[in-house]
Amino acid sequence: MKYGYFDDVNREYVIQTPKTPYPWINYLGSDNFFGLISNTAGGYCFYKDARLRRLTRYRYNNIPLDNGGRYFYIRDKDGYYSPAWMPVKEDLDSYTCRHGMGYTKITGVKNHLETETLYMVPLGDPIEIHRVKVRNKGNVPKEIIIFSFIEFCLWNAYDDMTNYQRTYSIGAVEVDNGTIYHKTDYRERRNHYAFYGVNHQINGFDTDREAFLGPFNGLHEPEAVLAGKSNNTIVSGWNPIASHSIEIKLLPGEEKELIFILGYVENPVEEKWQEKGVINKKRAKKLLEKYSTGDTVHRAFLELKEHWHQLLTKFTVKSHDEKLDRMVNIWNPYQCMTTFNMSRSASYFETGIGRGMGFRDSNQDLLGFVHQIPEKARERILDIAATQFEDGSAYHQYQPLTKKGNHEIGSGFNDDPLWLILAVTAYIKETGDFDILDVQVPYNCDPNNMGSLLEHMEKSFHYTLNNLGPHGLPLIGRADWNDCLNLNCFSVNPDESFQTCENQKGKTAESVFIAGMFVYIGKELAGLYKRLGKEDLAQSVLLEVEKMHNNVETHGYDQEWFLRAYDFYGDKVGSVENEEGKIFIEPQGFCVMAGIGIDNGKAQRALDAVDRYLNTPYGLVLQQPAYSEYKLNLGEISSYPPGYKENAGIFCHNNPWIMIAETLLGRGDKAFEYYRKIAPAYLEEISEIHRLEPYVYAQMIAGKDAPRHGEAKNSWLTGTAAWNYEAITKWILGIRPDYDGLTIDPCIPKDWDNIAIKRVYRDAEYHITIRNPEGVSKGVKKIIIDGQEQDSNFIRLLDNAAVHNVEVIMG
Ligand code: BGC
Ligand code: NOJ
Repeated sequence: MKYGYFDDVNREYVIQTPKTPYPWINYLGSDNFFGLISNTAGGYCFYKDARLRRLTRYRYNNIPLDNGGRYFYIRDKDGYYSPAWMPVKEDLDSYTCRHGMGYTKITGVKNHLETETLYMVPLGDPIEIHRVKVRNKGNVPKEIIIFSFIEFCLWNAYDDMTNYQRTYSIGAVEVDNGTIYHKTDYRERRNHYAFYGVNHQINGFDTDREAFLGPFNGLHEPEAVLAGKSNNTIVSGWNPIASHSIEIKLLPGEEKELIFILGYVENPVEEKWQEKGVINKKRAKKLLEKYSTGDTVHRAFLELKEHWHQLLTKFTVKSHDEKLDRMVNIWNPYQCMTTFNMSRSASYFETGIGRGMGFRDSNQDLLGFVHQIPEKARERILDIAATQFEDGSAYHQYQPLTKKGNHEIGSGFNDDPLWLILAVTAYIKETGDFDILDVQVPYNCDPNNMGSLLEHMEKSFHYTLNNLGPHGLPLIGRADWNDCLNLNCFSVNPDESFQTCENQKGKTAESVFIAGMFVYIGKELAGLYKRLGKEDLAQSVLLEVEKMHNNVETHGYDQEWFLRAYDFYGDKVGSVENEEGKIFIEPQGFCVMAGIGIDNGKAQRALDAVDRYLNTPYGLVLQQPAYSEYKLNLGEISSYPPGYKENAGIFCHNNPWIMIAETLLGRGDKAFEYYRKIAPAYLEEISEIHRLEPYVYAQMIAGKDAPRHGEAKNSWLTGTAAWNYEAITKWILGIRPDYDGLTIDPCIPKDWDNIAIKRVYRDAEYHITIRNPEGVSKGVKKIIIDGQEQDSNFIRLLDNAAVHNVEVIMG
């Protein structure tokens, strides 16, 4: 069942009912000022840091779930309603929500009045625009009152939720010429305030939540709206809100436009006050003035559209499959940019207070956005590398505001360091910016202790080598990619975290997954050394890679597939010998990606086993059989109910590793089968089962052991976005940037033909057409570039800033 449809021309998903199975959300903002907005205008906004600079309040896990946002109420002679349906939930005559690139437009019609609200954050200014257009579609004049409503968060979202003995006494506002200024804490240590204004004369306002709602009412029945009149309250402590009321008369056919601005201002200390106790509003007024006309707002909207157009046209595909095209051209790269902006901080599943930026997460996310914003990718790499320690290990997370490592979580996740190498090589292959390798980067953010970025990468590589176990495989530490495989943890205390509790000392628990990573990523490092002319270093890296490759074949393969690990006691995990958790997905993906077992059939047998044991109609589950009880020697993985999360859920992040592995075996039909199963656009028709947004990936879909098989959780902020983008663009469509050009190596379903790809690469534009006359999956027979046939499938860098035509004939 569908709840809307894709409008690809406008790059929008159009939702046709407010009653989606779960709030279906979108993000506003590209730089510093961000908002989350649901299809019924729920959500919140913040400046830079979702915890420390939260502007508006949102209650997670509310009743009903999505309650609180940027709300409007329309009062007419028959009653009142909300044009985005929430919070009043009065039936509308028609409703549509268009989630677009960085904006959301919600239109509600009732009693012949159409109200269209555009929500957006314009480029370059720290504000949210709510442009409300009301139109009388009937044939009699109309008199209405519009009420706006937002609730301020008292800045620190954590404090705001927990510390009422303080927060109920500090709330403060000013009202000036119809604009409501939120200035809690400004008197002491804050030089910033928020404001909510409108480009129209107002008839009244409220800033005191209790006065606006009435002491016993919810957001769906504010007393001010019931009475048709604001109370003009100035809050003192308690809960500051901003609500305007505006009376409007509309003749038949007449339309009026109101522009509400919700903004954030930071003042220099010397310019804090206008006079004693009165905040300096100069900067806010400038912003209100700037966006006071429909023309400016319309122009800002077009600029935003153009901005996204630029970002999204670096790689586009035109195939026979519109679902594929919309994933590759619109929604997957859009989600990758969102993971760049948010990391794992703020979504409808991440509260914006708990987690910093993950070391491994950020490195992997980069794979998905580096081609869109290379300069920002560069900065991100240097920030991440600065949280590495001198022995090559790394903080598991760092805080975006301070850019320092997070002590509470610390380090000891032994896969972390290697991901840095993968991010840097991907960045250089995209940009050709080898200079980044010489940049001096601190260890542990200490400016007195620096090393070049290349040195950081070397340390990453050696960290693994310096931490090998009895089988010559990498020690796992607290966990590897799978945060929940905690082999040294042995936790019996429900009050501690599996990730940070004291581990048992042991040098036995080894990860075959990290071994696969080491081989895959070690080859990347060797390739970089070669390209830098450091042949000796390349050879010494390859020697270690070779050893690890052999160790995996000897100790990391179990009859039909790759083992997952050795536990604290040196017993196998992910083996036929185990009763549960016999086969895991991660090592099958990464070991085959690393090339292990491809020449001797082991890889193929492993992937066949994946198909046999892990494949389901909704994607590949993480392992089988699911753990049915808690196992001390395995940790958090066995604490989840069977079928959820890492305990045999469909963890969408690792499915693309299998897709990529399949392409290395040349099995394009299988690779694409797995792609299609979890790509959201293909799940649109089963939205009643999948339940989350059909335009973005979710971290997890419930596995076959779960009662709700097929149901997704945790949409938006997941490494799934980057890896699926990687799988489809680089391995299935097969366009891979390298240091000195592009490799063209598609691996597609046999019945595909005639695929047109546009790839902007280092200023030049490549128009690539792939023909498949013989119906093969892999193999390039002929490549013709600008009319010249060439002898390999590698396109050497061509002169910049030109358009090149590339014809690829498979066979
Ligand atoms: C969760 C995992 C999650 C991890 C993220 C754990 O506590 O249970 O499912 O992947 O945190 O760091
Ligand atoms: C989510 C975490 O953000 C990611 O780092 C981890 O790899 C996966 N969960 C799997 O545990």
